[in-house]
Amino acid sequence: MDLDYPVLTDELFKKFALMLFELSGIKLQDHKKYLLIHRLSKYVGPTKPFHSFEQYYHALLDDKSGKLTTDFLNVLTTNFTFFFREPLHFDFLREYLGKASQTEPYIRIWSAACSSGEEPYSMAIAITQAVPDYKNYDIKVLASDISRKMLNAAETGVYHYTKVRGHLDDSLLRNYFDFDRETNAFTVKQFLRELIAYRYINLLEPYPFHKAFDLVFLRNVLIYFDNKEKEYIINKILSYIKPGGYLILGLSESLVGIDHKLKINRNSIYQKV
Ligand SMILES: C[S@@+](CC[C@H](N)C(=O)[O-])C[C@H]1O[C@@H](n2cnc3c(N)ncnc32)[C@H](O)[C@@H]1O
Repeated sequence: MDLDYPVLTDELFKKFALMLFELSGIKLQDHKKYLLIHRLSKYVGPTKPFHSFEQYYHALLDDKSGKLTTDFLNVLTTNFTFFFREPLHFDFLREYLGKASQTEPYIRIWSAACSSGEEPYSMAIAITQAVPDYKNYDIKVLASDISRKMLNAAETGVYHYTKVRGHLDDSLLRNYFDFDRETNAFTVKQFLRELIAYRYINLLEPYPFHKAFDLVFLRNVLIYFDNKEKEYIINKILSYIKPGGYLILGLSESLVGIDHKLKINRNSIYQKV
């Protein structure tokens, strides 16, 4: 641990973790304390706007303009993701795939802010589970992000065991990954990679699609946009969803204040009507 970092007590860490949870739904486990210190060191330190975590925490509590809170969220949630985040969304995906593979000529799923790839790989695993003959079927995942660094990490598909711990059980790890004892890292197997195409896409810019999507996962990215941008993105994405298809947001996100033609199904799952 860098000795230049100010001290963060366990008690104050818990308060930051609770604040983050209330704002974003993200649960920071105890072993993420150093990650939090490292990320917040952008704002806290001898030469930074706040000299102690205590001072920073109180400034966040008093933040009338919302600017400090937005920066706090940005710095902690930027690329945060993990395998099978919100399992009920993947249950829904499996259920959809089981039915749609009987009726739809093709299936396309989009992970619209894929970060380091855990979301699209979880989708690909769900495909192999729900559509046993997926190799003979026209089915694909598109994974996109604005960060080339993240896209690169996603495409590389190598995850240190600390990234999979608690999210993937042994049988999933055995079936879908190769393990390297020297680096303690899991590499995604080729057959899973073949289900995914990667692409740089800024959600605010034009999209390059020819085929409509069955499901779009637009999770934990709306935080970056104001209401006008959200409305623009949601309605643009909607025009690329099949009639009756679905848009899935993060569990702590909503479309309140946004003009749209979607029917809320349940659990941040919206259907195009
Ligand atoms: C917190 S991650 C979400 C990862 C995943 N969807 C999940 O829910 O676990 C947010 C991602 O949004 C991406 N992002 C931010 N602004 C974007 C934009 N304008 N267009 C596309 N992606 C964007 C970031 O690069 C980051 O990887």
